[in-house]
Amino acid sequence: MLQIQLKVRGAESRRFLPPIHTKASTRTSSSRTFPTFFLLLLFLLPARADEGMWLPMLIRQKIPQMQELGFRLTAEDIYSVNQACLKDAIVHFGGGCTGEVISAEGLLITNHHCGYGQIQAHSTVEHDYLKDGFWARTRKEELPNKGLSVTFLRRMEDVTQQVLEGVTDQMSEVERQGIIEANIKKIGEETLRGMDPGFYSVRITPAYYGNQYFLYLNQTFRDIRLVGAPPSSIGKFGGDTDNWMWPRHTGDFSLFRIYANTDNEPAEYSQDNVPYRPLHHLSISAKGVKPGDFTMVYGYPGRTQQYVLSSAVDYIANHSNPQKIHLRTLRLEVMNREQAKDQAVRIQYSNKNAGVSNSWKKWQGESRGILNANTIGKKQEFERLFQVWAEASGRQEYITLIPRMKELYKELEPYMFASEMYAEAVMAVELLRFANTLESTLVRSGTARAVEVAEDFFKDYYLPIDKEIFELLFAEFYRVMEPLGHLLPADAIHPLSSDTPLGGNPLSRDGLRFSRLAAYLYGTSALADRQKTMDLLAKDSASALDHIRQDPAFLLVSPFVEKNHTGIQPRIAEINRELNLLYRTWMQAIMEFDNNRIFYPDANSTLRVTYGTVQGYSPADAVMYLPVSTIEGIMQKDNPEIFDYNIPQSLRDIYAAREFGRWETDGTVPVCFIATNHTSGGNSGSPVLNGDGHLLGLNFDRVWEGTMSDIEFNLSVCRNISVDIRYVLFIMDKIGNAKYLIDELDIIE
Ligand code: ARG
Ligand code: ASP
Repeated sequence: MLQIQLKVRGAESRRFLPPIHTKASTRTSSSRTFPTFFLLLLFLLPARADEGMWLPMLIRQKIPQMQELGFRLTAEDIYSVNQACLKDAIVHFGGGCTGEVISAEGLLITNHHCGYGQIQAHSTVEHDYLKDGFWARTRKEELPNKGLSVTFLRRMEDVTQQVLEGVTDQMSEVERQGIIEANIKKIGEETLRGMDPGFYSVRITPAYYGNQYFLYLNQTFRDIRLVGAPPSSIGKFGGDTDNWMWPRHTGDFSLFRIYANTDNEPAEYSQDNVPYRPLHHLSISAKGVKPGDFTMVYGYPGRTQQYVLSSAVDYIANHSNPQKIHLRTLRLEVMNREQAKDQAVRIQYSNKNAGVSNSWKKWQGESRGILNANTIGKKQEFERLFQVWAEASGRQEYITLIPRMKELYKELEPYMFASEMYAEAVMAVELLRFANTLESTLVRSGTARAVEVAEDFFKDYYLPIDKEIFELLFAEFYRVMEPLGHLLPADAIHPLSSDTPLGGNPLSRDGLRFSRLAAYLYGTSALADRQKTMDLLAKDSASALDHIRQDPAFLLVSPFVEKNHTGIQPRIAEINRELNLLYRTWMQAIMEFDNNRIFYPDANSTLRVTYGTVQGYSPADAVMYLPVSTIEGIMQKDNPEIFDYNIPQSLRDIYAAREFGRWETDGTVPVCFIATNHTSGGNSGSPVLNGDGHLLGLNFDRVWEGTMSDIEFNLSVCRNISVDIRYVLFIMDKIGNAKYLIDELDIIE
């Protein structure tokens, strides 16, 4: 696939930044006249050793500091284009997680929650791999996964100069954008010349809001097979109760294998494919960690917003998060109740529930962390000092920056809020989202594909859950959107109200109204019923489309989709275009102003290195957490009565006999540990490496008090959580009896 992603956010570029990761070396004369600023700034936003997500290509600059903490390798060992190195063992797993190769035969490890969708897809009530775990005994038993791919970074490059070639100070933003887009397309095509576009792709993305551009050449493998997974009672031990929390005891891992054609090149699934022989695979350290040890995480963090203004943080922490949390609480209450009643429903909704619950809980921790750390207050103070400095500097473009950005945020907020409410309420109703997807699938890809979409949908659909969620979400949606009536579709719900005793104002808070609407919608929509939907799709695609467009579910959802598409998203894009332009200047300005601070580009799903040390933390007054958990804690939490804490009997037996084998350390088995690595969503499954680049564990989470790290990294509470590789090996060995897999690994004891 020729995939040249254009993520241009930028504006005009008059000055180029100093190379990334180095401090600006010169102070402006005006800053020299205000030395107290810098003292203050040091106090406000100190440059912290452990903070930062570094570009592998530029890691050289961080090596001395890493070595001080215990790193024993070179920059070339982390990233090199000339020799096999650690990066050649790292993959972007399924686009949302990280994984790493741990054997010469393409064995791949990632988190259980990253492989969860695949494990679920192979599960039925009879073969419940979620519940019982799965271990392929031979290569033949390894299970293919439609749609799953993993991507290696083959090389990266700073292409700022090429991307900006032909850009001048005088040209308009539109002209400039046109040139940048054309350059990006050209660079992408040149890079891919002679390569199979099915398996190689180029991504060119801006860093620092378009102050720099980097090219990533990727290679994608599409035959990825499931090899092993522990039972969920181990892989998801603690469930959503312990999620985002320390102390933690989750064996969050699963195993896959990359398959290639007989030339060791990526290929679509085929029985003739063979295990991939990687350029590099990780050695495993069974030596473990102790407090203070150096650790490094190498993976794909998704998105952070370290440099946004206080207004944006205020919106996230105090407005958006609380409302989204509330909507998800409503959904989760229904799902949890219904899942507890029925085994089949529990499986059907396990993945959906985990997804809904995950952000729901993260947002709570994030808002609280931001409040506790006074992030907004600190940012406001920073902005105040910046303004004084800007005015002293006399530079007009700096002076007007914050006031204009704040204005834009004010304009943006209602649109952002509406957009989030559409996503978290209207589109969270499965039937409505399905109606919309089915219609567009028919238009774009015809009936055959639409039948596939419908099969996928009904496999995991349970109408009573969805119907109740519809009622609750719509009532809440209209309640909060009432003051933003102009951002609602004018004709919403009306197409239905003529046929139902609903008439009148849809904004009414009358809950009954929504329950009547639900009864009508779920009683009459053909799309709520598998057989009716399949009958409908058996017609020729024109009449299928006709029917769908007359279906109550489609009639209900389409005005929202339309309004979002024409009245909300374009405005958001327009405001963001100007904001991002200003953020570009903002980045330049704060690098000059706050030149004691260390800058790194926000995460954008590109490969990063982050490092820190194993350390506990204090979550509350008079409480101190230790950084390592053990199997003793699993036994303390074990409770057959509580789903999240009901471990397999085999684990109880092994514990009772204390048969820990070669994985025993100090009389127990270490399970998880925390450290100060700056990670984010997407880092799940990332290798946690020691100073020699050996695998110590798998990153899978952060502590609740520290989920704010996407916005501010607060060293006192921001910790990443990893599962200790010795626990992984113990489970593979003792629970999975997968000695043949362990024999594939290079284990250093
Ligand atoms: N919080 C972790 C992350 O964001 C793990 C999520 C999966 N686990 C769960 N219990 N839902 O991905
Ligand atoms: N659990 C997250 C993930 O799936 C990691 C995190 O947000 O810390 O990537």
